[in-house]
Amino acid sequence: MLEKIQETAAFIRNSVPVVPQIAIILGTGLGELVHEITDKRDIPYESIPNFPVSTVEGHSGKLIFGKLGGKDVIAMQGRFHYYEGYTMQEVTFPIRVFQLLGVRYLFVSNAAGGMNGSFDIGDIMLIDDHINTFPEHPLHGKNYNELGTRFPDMSNAYDKELRLMAMEIARENNIKLQHGVYVGTQGPTFETPAEYNWFRIIGGDAVGMSTVPEVIVANHAKMKVMAFSIITDIGIIGKIVEVTHEDVQEAAKIAQPKMAYIMQEVINRIN
Ligand code: HPA
Repeated sequence: MLEKIQETAAFIRNSVPVVPQIAIILGTGLGELVHEITDKRDIPYESIPNFPVSTVEGHSGKLIFGKLGGKDVIAMQGRFHYYEGYTMQEVTFPIRVFQLLGVRYLFVSNAAGGMNGSFDIGDIMLIDDHINTFPEHPLHGKNYNELGTRFPDMSNAYDKELRLMAMEIARENNIKLQHGVYVGTQGPTFETPAEYNWFRIIGGDAVGMSTVPEVIVANHAKMKVMAFSIITDIGIIGKIVEVTHEDVQEAAKIAQPKMAYIMQEVINRIN
């Protein structure tokens, strides 16, 4: 595995003039942020050795290098979901490549169902913490000490300083920013009412099918992580309506510019 990661990292290093220390994963319907990136250079996933290729609708699959918030960034447009059939190693492969490239910050966005009674569709939730319900763990198996410790700490999985920064930026700009716990599930079904209720009872504010694997690996790699969920549907008994992938994309669109602004400002303020 290590050799493949090294090979991919070397390919990327040779393909771009600067290797950024900031990486961004754009979730479902949240690709608009790439329009804010300047001096862009794209590398389609198909042309990157060892990279999985994304399949789900709404994801186009490329790495975008450029400048955002005054800094060099790499953005993943299109991510790999466990429900598509990728192994956890494949889902998190780009994070390992970023690690070898020297990335120190990971920003993540996703679409999620809200279970907190104060959430509305189109709200942005800053992720404070997560609960991992995936059936497989991305760090299961041999540990490569070169990549991280066998038993990684997860007490600050979503970096507190970055979270405070995001909250401050939201406050200064009158952007409504919720915060809470993200429950990561395997999908691809949306939840039954009883499942939404269960995730609420165990401490979740929002639920989605991504992010947790990548954030675990980023923490193993000692990156600082900040992540946002866009609340695209509501999983509260009495308010639950049928959800489609299209609804999720539509709701994600509304919140995009505000989330992009906060991310961009945080990037601008970190050093
Ligand atoms: N559940 C799981 N994943 C999701 C949801 C949801 O309600 N909304 C968007 N992604």
